[in-house]
Amino acid sequence: MSLKVGKQLKSLETVLLLGFFIITGALSVLSAQGRTRRYVWKVEKRYKSVDCFKKLVITINGSAPGPTIYAREGDTVIVEVINGLITENTAIHWHGIRQIGTPWSDGAEAVTQCPILPGEHFFYNFVVDRAGTFMYHAHYGMQSSDGLVGMIIVSVKPGFVEPFKYDHDRNILLTDWWHKSKSEQTTGLLSKPFTWVGEPQSLLIQGRGRYNCSLINDDTLCRNNNTDCSPYVLKVDPGKTYRLRVGSLTSLSALNFEIEGHNMTVVEADGHYVAPFLVSNLYIYSGETYSVLITANQDPSNKYWIATNVVSRPPNTDTGLAILNYRQQSSGSSPSTNPPIGPLWNDTAPRIRQSLKIKAHRDHIISPPKTSDQTIILLNTQNKIDGYIKWSINNVSYTLPQIPYLISLKKNVTDAFDQSPAPVSYDYQSYDIYSVQTNPNATSSSSIYRLEFNSTVDIILQNGNTLNPNNSETHPWHFHGHDFWVLGYGTGKYDPKTDLEKNSNLVDPIMKNTVPLHPYGWTAIRFIADNPGAWFFHCHIDPHLLMGMSVVFEQGIHRVGKLPSSIMSCVPRSD
Ligand code: C2O
Ligand code: CU
Repeated sequence: MSLKVGKQLKSLETVLLLGFFIITGALSVLSAQGRTRRYVWKVEKRYKSVDCFKKLVITINGSAPGPTIYAREGDTVIVEVINGLITENTAIHWHGIRQIGTPWSDGAEAVTQCPILPGEHFFYNFVVDRAGTFMYHAHYGMQSSDGLVGMIIVSVKPGFVEPFKYDHDRNILLTDWWHKSKSEQTTGLLSKPFTWVGEPQSLLIQGRGRYNCSLINDDTLCRNNNTDCSPYVLKVDPGKTYRLRVGSLTSLSALNFEIEGHNMTVVEADGHYVAPFLVSNLYIYSGETYSVLITANQDPSNKYWIATNVVSRPPNTDTGLAILNYRQQSSGSSPSTNPPIGPLWNDTAPRIRQSLKIKAHRDHIISPPKTSDQTIILLNTQNKIDGYIKWSINNVSYTLPQIPYLISLKKNVTDAFDQSPAPVSYDYQSYDIYSVQTNPNATSSSSIYRLEFNSTVDIILQNGNTLNPNNSETHPWHFHGHDFWVLGYGTGKYDPKTDLEKNSNLVDPIMKNTVPLHPYGWTAIRFIADNPGAWFFHCHIDPHLLMGMSVVFEQGIHRVGKLPSSIMSCVPRSD
């Protein structure tokens, strides 16, 4: 339909030729208007053996990972979610989509909507306003990594030239996998005594992994020749260049990704063009996406491993494997080489080096404001509350309110969450980030940060020591509703007087929606509070989020349009 209109206008334009600028104006308005992509998704549990071990998996229309959403910049995406989980609520977050004008479609349960109850239908309706590689996942408890994950690929507008060339486009989604259900894990994490989830049983590439079934020795439960768990095969044509869109939605693991014998050029991060750089392996944290270019220029008579390995925690999981296969090769057999074992898990130096390398492409720099109106320092620590183990920000472990923030803020319900402002700093004069806190007790609260609309805000994420001596973890922080500038990274305690001046990049910082906080380090980001709504900012490690590692930012709440009643199913009616 729109194509036809476009053609008619074009011929009209040729007939009337110059002078009629109004017509050419109308044409561009027409072509700027996106299409609508509609999906109907039934969310259901099914038995699957994605790593050869049979367990209940959350599927979308029968598949896990779910279908990839393909859209073009400016399109409207409408997803009707039918919760077929029978006994579980759900909600789906569109990770990396800013939801400008549609904060109620963000899918963050307890922040922007009530959960979707079993049997309910819910419509997500939003515009994908920027090209790039994004993802979606459940945002209800720890549900996402029971399989409810997928990718969103937004292509550029016609005529727009990307700053790199490739012949083919492929997606690779990375996840980690446990044999225990998420509800069992959740119970352990929230109980006294605390039960940690442990390292994953498998790493999955495109939803497939391989658990060693001889460790179980029960054919009905685990069979290594099950086709459910045959590895993903990337077929390539010799000489061609591939854009691989790699995303990680691990529940816990920081990963290293590599393709045997093939270097990768990093060209995109979280939907922003990167000043290209070459790597032999790529670190990727949960919530991040990268596009890398590879050229199929190796001996086509060999096969090559595509591998992921755990970093930043002592690994206890086999390498996740897929296979790169040149087109003329028969499928079936595996590469003859040993799978890559990845870099040293506890070597943080190359991880920091990669973080520092990621800068905006010179033709695509979006300059940050030179100064900020406010700085918020967020100390990340492990704490105790009544003997329960928690994660806290400035010694406050967050708790979710009964009524989602977006609703209580907009409707001015003041008893729905703690109205006192969340703390903007910690005692950085005397705090020793290198040792276990002398008093590890924290408080819990549902308080939030309320920002002045359109103000520029700096956030300093400050890492510290966990409850175990000589231990600091990596935390990938993800912001809903925003891209932010990554101003810099440092080690040790951030000094508010000197560090930003000395160690920040205001020239060509990359914009991202997820950024790592490295062990014993700090990460500085800047953003503009210009998206009316209530937005989650949290560690993307599921158990950490569950244990309180999160904050919420409000901005411009009075500019938010009329809330759809469909998000309010858990709110008592006031009339
Ligand atoms: Cu992908 Cu709130 O997260
Ligand atoms: Cu974390």
